[in-house]
Amino acid sequence: MDRVRKTFDEWAQNGRAELMEAEHGKNVLKFLKTISFDSPFTFLDVGCGNGWIVRKIAKEKKCKKAIGIDKSKKMIIQAKKKIDSKKEEFFYTDIESIKYNEKFDFIFSMESLYYADSIEIALEKIYKLLKPGGKFFCGTDFYTDNKATAKWSKMMKIQMHLHSKKEWKILFQNAGFVIKTKHVKDLENKKKWKREYGTLFITGTKPIK
Ligand SMILES: C[S@@+](CC[C@H](N)C(=O)[O-])C[C@H]1O[C@@H](n2cnc3c(N)ncnc32)[C@H](O)[C@@H]1O
Repeated sequence: MDRVRKTFDEWAQNGRAELMEAEHGKNVLKFLKTISFDSPFTFLDVGCGNGWIVRKIAKEKKCKKAIGIDKSKKMIIQAKKKIDSKKEEFFYTDIESIKYNEKFDFIFSMESLYYADSIEIALEKIYKLLKPGGKFFCGTDFYTDNKATAKWSKMMKIQMHLHSKKEWKILFQNAGFVIKTKHVKDLENKKKWKREYGTLFITGTKPIK
């Protein structure tokens, strides 16, 4: 069995999905506040875990549909148990093999993309799933510049593609995105890296041709 899937199936059952929600929540919510959700929109969360971001976004007035996908079946089972609006839907699939006909206004991913077998293929898929002018928001704490997190791959013992901020930018540009980056820091956090580097958010916009 795929080791990434196996690890996150375990996390879905031992409470670590909720721990991630707590760990990532502050910076994600801070970042989401910088996005304008004032026109009707559809939303996809790639690697949604227990679905907390989907539930949050579905509460936005202008949200028409918020979908979460995850390659861990057990994460999707947890997410489905927590559904609290008709706008939410969850599917068990990885981003590499997703089959979905509609296109989205916004795609989001927090701490998930670097587990993909190929970030290049994942980005290609995400690009195709966006409407022209649509945006992909990708958050990562695990990047070379943020040295404290580099050791995570040894601890996790699963595939985690480590890239620098510069390399992430190139990956996005090669996929066709116009990019912007932002570091969201938590200045009161006990962890030094959260204060000094924080979460790197890369926003990729699909150009209108
Ligand atoms: C570190 S967790 C983050 C979960 C959630 N985004 C959060 O912030 O709480 C990474 C999640 O991505 C999922 N994942 C990893 N690779 C994936 C892929 N290729 N396609 C879809 N989901 C994937 C994992 O199963 C896991 O639930």
